[in-house]
Amino acid sequence: MKVLVLHGVNLDMFGKRDPGMYGTITLAEIDASIRTLADELGVEVECFQSNFEGALCERVHAAHGTADAVVINAGAWTHYSYAIRDALAILKVPIVEVHMSNVHAREPFRHHSVLVEVAKGQIAGFGVESYLLGLRAAVSAARQGSGGA
Ligand code: DQA
Repeated sequence: MKVLVLHGVNLDMFGKRDPGMYGTITLAEIDASIRTLADELGVEVECFQSNFEGALCERVHAAHGTADAVVINAGAWTHYSYAIRDALAILKVPIVEVHMSNVHAREPFRHHSVLVEVAKGQIAGFGVESYLLGLRAAVSAARQGSGGA
């Protein structure tokens, strides 16, 4: 089983960016934790980050027919990118949306996700643990063969 973990815009700045909100963990450390859990779960994982919306869409396209599940933290794109939403909607595999912070306890523009309707669900507010819970949820849904939203 192959799981694609996608990180969107500005998430390469974790560690330097708003430590009060996101802590001091870097994206490389987050990816290392994801890989450790993937090994425990016996799945292959690929982590990909981009600050370019089109590049993220193209990575989603490449996942068609090759990935068994997707975990995505799209960063600010979560709240307005219909392009990423439409790309994800093409996939037939479970998608789990994750966020480090509790987006629902923040500014109103962060309360809405345009992606979550094409996802199995959303996990937010647990720091790096959101990614790990998201990976467990994605693997479990894929193992049950429950694809799509
Ligand atoms: C975030 C929440 C988003 O609202 C924000 O734009 C981010 C990070 C999170 O992980 O908490 O870039 O996705």
